[in-house]
Amino acid sequence: MRSSLDQRTRAAAASLVATLPLRSDDDTAFIGVDLDVLGAQLASLRNAFPDSVRHSIAIKTMPHPEMLAHLIDLGFGLEAASLEEVQLALAAGAAPSDLIFDSPVKTRSEIAWCQANLPGALLNANSIAELHRYPASPSFQVGLRINPEVATGAPTEFDVSGERSKFGVAISTPRPVLVDACIDAGVTALHMHIGSQVPTCDAHVEAVGRLLDVAAELDAVRAERRDDRRITTLDIGGGMRSEVDGDAVMSLYGQRLRAERPSLFDYDVRTEFGQWVQANAGWAATRIESVEERAAPMAFVHLGADYFVRDVYGASGASSYGFAVVRPDGRVAMAGDDAEATRPYDVVGPLCFAGDVLARDLVLPELDEGDWLVIAGTGANTLGLWSRHCGRAVPKVVASAGGDCVVWSGRRLPS
Ligand SMILES: Cc1ncc(COP(=O)(O)O)c(C=O)c1O
Repeated sequence: MRSSLDQRTRAAAASLVATLPLRSDDDTAFIGVDLDVLGAQLASLRNAFPDSVRHSIAIKTMPHPEMLAHLIDLGFGLEAASLEEVQLALAAGAAPSDLIFDSPVKTRSEIAWCQANLPGALLNANSIAELHRYPASPSFQVGLRINPEVATGAPTEFDVSGERSKFGVAISTPRPVLVDACIDAGVTALHMHIGSQVPTCDAHVEAVGRLLDVAAELDAVRAERRDDRRITTLDIGGGMRSEVDGDAVMSLYGQRLRAERPSLFDYDVRTEFGQWVQANAGWAATRIESVEERAAPMAFVHLGADYFVRDVYGASGASSYGFAVVRPDGRVAMAGDDAEATRPYDVVGPLCFAGDVLARDLVLPELDEGDWLVIAGTGANTLGLWSRHCGRAVPKVVASAGGDCVVWSGRRLPS
């Protein structure tokens, strides 16, 4: 039986084959979105939680305007990390009440803009100092991000729950200071996002428990002070690692929250997942420009550190994605296929620096100029991080559904 990784990779190869008729001469690479896979991920996300939970998808993970419009059409909200992302979301058709705005560096003028233009949005302040910038009668809902200070197990660069994190108000802040700041600013939402690529749901469940404690304590003080306002909303962020095998971790998270944190669902619950939703729904393909016999066989391709920014600069490389080869006649080949001769290749990107290497000694079917290398599972934090280094064009972006393929945007210079 084929592994899920193989199936995902073959589906990506089939998407490339469906895309090739849309190719122009200068299309040396494609970025693809599989809307069927995306739809399945989104359905699994909804199924994992009670119907009342409102899911906002992190824009930064895949900010293509067509993606945002698609998510809005399907009834999802959007989480913006900058005012520019807020404006992208509005341009894509989002209503202000569909938006969560989480930038850690909101300027006074951005806050004034939100006051005038984002009635009903949720703004999560990153600090008590930020709360002091907010208007006395905000048109938006005021949230405060709490750092629950849990051990997440996330990679260091994505772990935001440590004591030196720049995000949120540490939960160890003396409680009267935290509570008074929330009461003074009229905070009605508490927010957490503990990190990205968090491997299990343990840390999330723990963090939600801590957030619930703060909410209960704050509301108890409000009741004592005869302040009618209450925490109505708990925004539990994103951060789950992507799953090639379906939705086991996400559905377990939902089950554990229902079983272990049932009072969570007394609140208006918001989520902000990104990578878990998008990773499997994306693929990329690059033409093999040349294959050269150097110290190791070397395949030159048209996507490198410009698209795989995290993988290449983070030095993990891109070898954990799924790889397939599509021959010029449309035939699909994968390492491990019967009768497919393979070789280990150094797969090197197009940028002019030594580190632009996707993988060393990657075992692939024998490659030739004009073949296509398909890379599956690239839907998160790739296009959104496109690097202008060497000024190369952003490839054509295509989306497929039910075997049909459309162009979302043409090949273009990075703006
Ligand atoms: C505040 C916030 N919410 C949600 C996300 C999405 O995280 P992930 O893609 O790990 O689900 C991020 C990612 O950086 C974030 O900073």
